Amino acid sequence: MKTLGIDIGGSALKGAVVDTATGKLVSERFRIDTPDNLNPDEMAGAVEAMAENFSWKGPIGIGFPGVIQGSTIWTSANLHKKFIGCDGAALFGKATGSPVAMINDAAAAGAAEMHFGAGRGFMGKTLLLTLGTGVGSCFAFQGIVTPMELGHFPWGKQGKSAERYVAASVRERKDLSWKKWGGALGEYVGVLEKLLWPELIIIGGGVSADHEKFFKFIKPRAKLVPAEFFNNAGIVGAALWAAERK
Ligand code: BGC
Repeated sequence: MKTLGIDIGGSALKGAVVDTATGKLVSERFRIDTPDNLNPDEMAGAVEAMAENFSWKGPIGIGFPGVIQGSTIWTSANLHKKFIGCDGAALFGKATGSPVAMINDAAAAGAAEMHFGAGRGFMGKTLLLTLGTGVGSCFAFQGIVTPMELGHFPWGKQGKSAERYVAASVRERKDLSWKKWGGALGEYVGVLEKLLWPELIIIGGGVSADHEKFFKFIKPRAKLVPAEFFNNAGIVGAALWAAERK
């Protein structure tokens, strides 16, 4: 079955038509940059443009960087605050004229990796972290993916969200060395290991393409691997989610 998957991120939205039986993209990937902090109506316009690019009418899965319960968006740490309390399925469904299913972006990435990627066939405890503008997280056991918000684990002297120290965007913005950033990430992963005892840790987000530069500083107990989908996991997982909701 073909489904449109859309991954809303901190600086762009990305989408593609996905064959949900194989997890493969069956269209080009399309990207719309969002350098400005789009409010919900503006984002709905961008989602509409995304669907129009593919002349798409049919199920759409959307990964969003916040807590999603049902189709309500409850947090928006790195996007417009007006998203808080919005019904994403209603907002984006109206804009596109298609049925929309909402899922947390990192849970979408986790679903793609557990079905078709680095966690394929693995039934043990798996932690997936996506490192981008923020830190996304989910946990899987017996292949069942649960969205998490570990990027907001209190960190540093002031107990701010850990993502303010270990997101990939922090390394870029502060121009940190791989060693310095990777070391902080290693400490954070160490704490998560104490709490969750994963057997497998999958690191996703664009920076996972550079995993050879920083995995050596993490030193986890669990097996550590990069995501196989790199930056497409969110698109594929969102499409899977929409296909399962039918
Ligand atoms: C959000 C998460 C999201 C992550 C990655 C965090 O700030 O709270 O819901 O998964 O960023 O986008």
